Amino acid sequence: MRTITWNDEDHVIEMIDQRILPREFKINTYDNYRDVAEAIRSMVIRGAPAIGAAAAFGMAMAAFNSEASTTDGLLIDLKNAGEVLNKSRPTAVNLSWAVRRMMGAADGFKGSADELRQHLLSLSKQIADEDVEINKRMAEYGAALIDDGDHVVHHCNTGALATVDWGTALGVIRMAHEQGKKIHVFVDETRPRLQGARLTAWELEQYGISYDVITDNSSGYLMRKGLVQKVFFGADRVAANGDVANKIGTYMLSLAAYDNGIPAYCVCPVSTVDFELDRGSLIPIEEREEAEVLDLTLMGKSVAPESATARNPAFDVTPHRLVSGWVTEKGVIYSPFKENLQAALED
Ligand code: MRU
Repeated sequence: MRTITWNDEDHVIEMIDQRILPREFKINTYDNYRDVAEAIRSMVIRGAPAIGAAAAFGMAMAAFNSEASTTDGLLIDLKNAGEVLNKSRPTAVNLSWAVRRMMGAADGFKGSADELRQHLLSLSKQIADEDVEINKRMAEYGAALIDDGDHVVHHCNTGALATVDWGTALGVIRMAHEQGKKIHVFVDETRPRLQGARLTAWELEQYGISYDVITDNSSGYLMRKGLVQKVFFGADRVAANGDVANKIGTYMLSLAAYDNGIPAYCVCPVSTVDFELDRGSLIPIEEREEAEVLDLTLMGKSVAPESATARNPAFDVTPHRLVSGWVTEKGVIYSPFKENLQAALED
């Protein structure tokens, strides 16, 4: 089943509630765009491409929520909805990319308001379908980088759950597994939301891929012991120079890989590249609630003192010099990122 779908019969958006996996598999339904924005913020749905699809479906829902009888009136409501959705999470550029694509289709639309509503619904479904197809193409390119017997470190969750279906970095690992390669995955648990220990481990169980969950600070040790051959991670936004904003911890993982001469690959669709930002330091980094860090118990007791404060940046930026290659639907891009991606896009 897909992470997110539009249910035509009930006219609602359906999402797997990722906050409660793997304990419970539950589908939530949404019939207005404000609740979709809240679902993105509270991480019912997460992962850059999945957030992009949610924003597209949210825009289609906003068109149906609007009472406007003219396309001009509808455009005003759509613009407001786009602003609400764009604010839900700041780092994943797929969100604003999807809102822009939907607004682009609405601007200058020739037809009635109802025809525009249908047009936007079709486009949101197309965006979701494209995501699955693009992921599979990236997976084919990326799987060629994995050798039989490789032990791979993977960060956060970048699988089917982080996308509409199939996945980016985890999709590469899944494809290599389906091609018959024997792979072992070291799953970074990924503090504080534990997307690795909860979601990636759950997905790997479904695919029958062998894995161990590791604490986020273990990978350097495992690398020094010669137990790791490759590192794979996704991206929430890639700057034009190839700097990668991804789940917090990716930078330290990449540093350890670099120091140990281990290739570290970023897997991301071209929609994750922000051509307007020259370098990673310009990428807005989401800071989330302190409670996500502090709500940790050991033997039933809170770990930190009651008055403890916390910082909770959700992402960090890995400089392009630490990235061995960027796996996209246009092929694997090697440094210099900007020039080589441009050439691949013109091909
Ligand atoms: O905070 P999250 O769970 O939305 O963060 C997800 C990631 O950092 C992923 O690595 C990224 O979105 C790419 S996955 C397709």
